[in-house]
Amino acid sequence: MADRSAQARREGSTVGFIPTMGALHEGHLELVRRARGEHGLVVCSVFVNPLQFNNPDDLANYPRQLERDSELLVQAGCDVLFAPVKEELFAGFTPQHYDLGGLDARWEGPSRPGHFQGVVNVVERLFFHVRPDAAYFGEKDRQQLAIIRHVAKALRWPEQIVPCPTVREADGLAMSSRNQRLSPSERRSATVLHRALRKAAELAFQQPVKAVVEAATAVFKEEPGVVLDHFGIAGADDLKPLTDWPAQGDAVALVAAQVGPVRLIDNLTLHRPEDRDR
Ligand code: PAF
Repeated sequence: MADRSAQARREGSTVGFIPTMGALHEGHLELVRRARGEHGLVVCSVFVNPLQFNNPDDLANYPRQLERDSELLVQAGCDVLFAPVKEELFAGFTPQHYDLGGLDARWEGPSRPGHFQGVVNVVERLFFHVRPDAAYFGEKDRQQLAIIRHVAKALRWPEQIVPCPTVREADGLAMSSRNQRLSPSERRSATVLHRALRKAAELAFQQPVKAVVEAATAVFKEEPGVVLDHFGIAGADDLKPLTDWPAQGDAVALVAAQVGPVRLIDNLTLHRPEDRDR
């Protein structure tokens, strides 16, 4: 794979890379299209990374559909699908323990021990094999994005990390490969995550942080079948929980909940009222 990237560079192209675990949806394809517009060679990986699953059932049930993914990638303008087997990806490799700058201490971190270490380890291996100039990550996994940016900066990885907006269904549900596992009624209930985030966005910077969290959390009462794991408001970059609104800049609301068999996460940037129509 590295040879293909090297050849592209010799020919004067740059390499854009989209790492995924497959079961591709419009959110992934949007990343591919964005990379297509910015690079001569576009590479997408599909690899269900065992290192980042702390729940064996989640790993076993993670949707796998490589043939369909491959067709979708061609249509979206991807040049190369990199779908390594574990032995190839991790050949000669011992997992590393990365300094995540404390960014894994909250939100998803405590519920998913080892998850972010597993993500950084596989991203490092994928970058090692693909050697991209830029890698595209969805903002839906906001904590993952913050952690990858932190590690890339701290270790001076040469790859540019490009954040891309969350792609949503018409009813607001953030696109996720795990949505496939929801029954029709769970699928309807799952919109509560976005409804709660919208409530927070509506009240942000106008009521105290605590009151906004309470109002957003109360939205979950509309869906008794959904089990809220956390709803919080944090600094937009460092993801540190806020008790007061920052004097400048944005905040972010982060949510995780169990809906039927799947744990869903989502987040929304909270803008100051004067910045909302930007
Ligand atoms: O966001 C994902 O799909 C995964 O965490 C990633 C970045 C492909 C690593 O396995």
